[in-house]
Amino acid sequence: MTDQTVYLPVDLLQNFIRDSFIAFGTPPEDARTVADVLITSDLRGIESHGIGRLRYYYDRLITGQHDVNTQIDVVCESPTTAVLDGNHGLGMVIGTRAMQMAIDKARTYGMGSVAVRNSTHFGIAGYYPLMAVAQGMVGLTVTNARPSVCPTFGTQPILGTNPIAFGAPSDEPFPFLYDAATPIIQRGFVEKLAREEKMAKAGWLVDPENQPLTDPVDILQRLGKGEAAFLPLGGAGEELGGHKGYGLATMVEILSASFQTGAFLMGLTGLAEDGSPQPFRVGHFFIAMDVESFVDLETFKHTTGTILRELRDTRKAPGQMRIFTAGEKEFEREQRVRRDGVPIVPNLQKDLLFVRGKLGLSQYEFPF
Ligand SMILES: NC(=O)c1ccc[n+]([C@@H]2O[C@H](COP(=O)([O-])OP(=O)(O)OC[C@H]3O[C@@H](n4cnc5c(N)ncnc54)[C@H](O)[C@@H]3O)[C@@H](O)[C@H]2O)c1
Repeated sequence: MTDQTVYLPVDLLQNFIRDSFIAFGTPPEDARTVADVLITSDLRGIESHGIGRLRYYYDRLITGQHDVNTQIDVVCESPTTAVLDGNHGLGMVIGTRAMQMAIDKARTYGMGSVAVRNSTHFGIAGYYPLMAVAQGMVGLTVTNARPSVCPTFGTQPILGTNPIAFGAPSDEPFPFLYDAATPIIQRGFVEKLAREEKMAKAGWLVDPENQPLTDPVDILQRLGKGEAAFLPLGGAGEELGGHKGYGLATMVEILSASFQTGAFLMGLTGLAEDGSPQPFRVGHFFIAMDVESFVDLETFKHTTGTILRELRDTRKAPGQMRIFTAGEKEFEREQRVRRDGVPIVPNLQKDLLFVRGKLGLSQYEFPF
């Protein structure tokens, strides 16, 4: 954060996001859903995917790559499965409907899984497993994304940042929620570095000659031209397990495209052959598992909570005060953000003023 960072109340930003989408022509109920997904990201401290992405969605709505009116078709359905076509509507609206469908199936049959094609960017993958957790279930969500990650031993960006999110209820004040991309860092993190005028670390991205890239502004320009690639989790080569991140990213690509005959790899550039913008045709996959079909919910929560506590109670590395479990930092962050507000760095302030001006939302007053 810089000295000029301003902290704005959660409600104000959530309403601003909602009204921005309504101004674009999104039905109010859908605009509320979008605002809830985006603000949940800021609440959990994932600044790369919250209000910071409003300008990104603005640009995509202007080019018509995302349709403000989400129309979802059910391509096929069984008691426990479904394939949906999102028709390039709003990813957050498509994602919440798909996950709720998986949850409803799981409530009746124990398990539900829904594959989606022709969607758009749906925000943080973790939002959707949290829906399952809130309804006493375990949830898993994956999505493919624009090509930006190279395979092990390659430098061509062809896989997406393909996050995996898994949530499970626990007897603690917060659930287990693992929610992360499959390269070492993801695009939103680079956007955040650029907004905060900080450098990336060598070893996170390479150029076509396999040389490290560290300037976030340069990286974002190169990503747009396919001249930068994120390295998969584990990093370059096999020595530190880069092939495992590569394998996980490929698994996500399969789940996001093969069940639903969807687009994949270079089919997700958002550009037609002549270079003009076209829909991204993103795919997602959602699984809900009803805990009560296996064991009573309280027993599950207690076992899960015990696993998390035992992990945190193990011996700390020298200089380390705490061991965390996934979802813990975000839970603590949420308490702080609700109290102090969402940090808005100067470059994001410019984005908010831009969107406010373009969409005529003059009823919103910002202290910048
Ligand atoms: N929709 C898309 O196309 C897309 C693509 C990529 C990423 N994303 C989203 O971006 C967000 C950020 O992804 P990321 O890869 O930067 O995440 P990250 O590297 O910040 O990792 C976050 C995960 O690691 C856990 N964690 C953090 N520190 C920990 C510790 N010390 N011990 C144990 N667990 C710890 C967190 O609880 C969280 O589950 C995610 O919400 C992801 O879904 C979305």
